[in-house]
Amino acid sequence: MKPINVGLLGIGTVGGGTWTVLTRNAEEITRRAGRPICITTVADRNLERARTVTGGAARLVDDAFAVVKDPEIDIVVELIGGCTVAKDLVLAAIENGKHVVTANKALLAMHGNEIFAAAQKKGVMVAFEAAVAGGIPIIKALREGLTANRIQWLAGIINGTTNFILSEMRDKGLAFDVVLKEAQALGYAEADPTFDIEGNDAAHKATIMASIAFGVPMQYERAHIEGITQLQATDIAYAEQLGYRIKLLGIARKREDGVELRVHPTLVPARRLLANVEGAMNAVLVQADAVGPTLYYGKGAGDEPTASAVIADLVDVTRMHTADPEHRVPHLAFQPDQLEDIPVLPIDECRCGYYMRLRVDDKPGVLADITRILADNDISIDALIQKAPAEGESQTDIILLTHITVERNANAAIARIEALPVVAGKVVRLRMEELDS
Ligand code: HSE
Repeated sequence: MKPINVGLLGIGTVGGGTWTVLTRNAEEITRRAGRPICITTVADRNLERARTVTGGAARLVDDAFAVVKDPEIDIVVELIGGCTVAKDLVLAAIENGKHVVTANKALLAMHGNEIFAAAQKKGVMVAFEAAVAGGIPIIKALREGLTANRIQWLAGIINGTTNFILSEMRDKGLAFDVVLKEAQALGYAEADPTFDIEGNDAAHKATIMASIAFGVPMQYERAHIEGITQLQATDIAYAEQLGYRIKLLGIARKREDGVELRVHPTLVPARRLLANVEGAMNAVLVQADAVGPTLYYGKGAGDEPTASAVIADLVDVTRMHTADPEHRVPHLAFQPDQLEDIPVLPIDECRCGYYMRLRVDDKPGVLADITRILADNDISIDALIQKAPAEGESQTDIILLTHITVERNANAAIARIEALPVVAGKVVRLRMEELDS
């Protein structure tokens, strides 16, 4: 059996894990793939690190462009990340007729349409299981396992850093800033955690899943993205009293008039399995018409969990290498000429329930004013709590949950409520999803 030759671009955490698992499980992987899969060349700027990991068992180079042009290489694994050099390398690999395996969610969410078109033209595969939720085979599930279904919506905890922070805030009642520092000290959060805490990483992954679930092009630029930096421990505690947990969800929902694609902190009923995904773990709940709800849970990051996904793609590509390109599993699940150009809806048109926290004067008629404004905007109240004012204070908190409404109406009601003289400051507003089937 002629081995399949792999060029690995980047041997950091995931690259190192890929080397280790591929070496450790070589015999079983070969039995599954039908051919040995060998990393013959590694490109990394840090040759010393590359030498330590590979022990001299692969050719080491510091010029990744030499690898993507090398006629001996069958598959290029891109683990560099980012959208600059990585994009050039992936496009050059495709141009040179190589199949590509990548974990690069930002690259696919932002430039996937161009990359898949180039791959289609060249008859090569671009596989990206590791780009979403690390070791969880969610791409495989959406693209192949659920292929009989009309997928209605999906909701995922797809960023481990933020889920760790939210779990700690809830468990210990601590503020966001305090927990972020703890997460950085423990190595759960990057030194620059912006992409995680602002929701961009989750939005990249949600964009990719939406595309495969609904057969639409990647539309990252139209996603609504809110992170967790403004979230207060007070609201996590109030949500808990009302039977909810707050999670950063990536949500994609297909509607008659378009697709909702959004990432934001979300109240989820505490009884849902998804609400009980704690720490750095990931999970994706998918609602589809034939199978109903299915839930996928596991590690969303880390060396060997992500390597598990990278190697699954290597095996897939190895198996399909010789198949007629027209009859391979399509990159985005639907045949390329069958992608639908349905719009991603503006956040104003999205529908969900709302949590609102208001600081108000404790005097007669305040609640009546507020409920009148909600009724005027066609918003129905689902639950409400009012705290007794603290000793010596004349103001108190009102927390209310609404039934599903359109975001535009919620915003209009909030603007009028904030203008009431008896309401102090801004209304804290969070979205809420029941996630029932
Ligand atoms: N930084 C991501 C997370 C993992 O915290 O889940 C890589 O996408």
